[in-house]
Amino acid sequence: MSSQRVPIVAGNWKMNLDRKRAVELVCRLRESVLADSRVEVGVAPPFPYLSVVAESLHGSRIFVAAQNLHWEKEGACTGEVSAKMLLDVGCSHVIVGHSERRHVMGESADAVARKLDLALSVGLKPILCIGETIEERKGARTEEVVLGQLKSALKGHRAEDLQDLVLAYEPVWAIGTGLNASPEQIREVHALIRRWLAERFLSTFADAMRIQYGGSVKPANAAELLAVEGVDGALVGGASLALETFLPIVQAPRVVRA
Ligand code: PGA
Repeated sequence: MSSQRVPIVAGNWKMNLDRKRAVELVCRLRESVLADSRVEVGVAPPFPYLSVVAESLHGSRIFVAAQNLHWEKEGACTGEVSAKMLLDVGCSHVIVGHSERRHVMGESADAVARKLDLALSVGLKPILCIGETIEERKGARTEEVVLGQLKSALKGHRAEDLQDLVLAYEPVWAIGTGLNASPEQIREVHALIRRWLAERFLSTFADAMRIQYGGSVKPANAAELLAVEGVDGALVGGASLALETFLPIVQAPRVVRA
């Protein structure tokens, strides 16, 4: 693990919690995340709670991410939310291409690429999710799928444009299922991604890129998974909904390095 890469742990709340529980959770999180922590920590609430969560976290070092954005800057896009609106309500990050968007909501690779472009163009830091389904893994297509998603999302970009990008390797079959990829499977895919980044851009760029792991990360497995070579933190779903389960994951990278 490069000492240059600060681990980043983000909680993706998906379509969960309510206003009261959201505020309580981040107020307690804020008290618990030490100012000198060497881990970057963030939460991704549903759209209606972004403002109140950002206000509750104002002045803390915990970032607020949206779970999605639209690729158009503004206009006649009923039901969508723009990147500028997200910045306006206090988001610094946005999750792009989550597997639930790709596979459940039918978001195409082209839509993911356009969303990534727009986020970068307005200074919203993207967390780009990539990962294979179980059929793709069983069909020995993991490499093709993961690199294909990466190629299409980063098409036309130069390394200079991508300084704020974070990647999240999330095998679709491990998300919300209680199944984890094994440390060896995770190590292999993270190394694959970093090799590709080094070939496509520069090895210094690849070395600096933070790649999270996501998929059923829990307090019980966080220390093991976050210690895997090339893993720079986690994107956490279910376990991010309560402080008791999120905090041990936030603290795991520090424990690993101690
Ligand atoms: P999970 O979700 O931790 O509940 O598996 C992870 C994610 O969707 O990012």
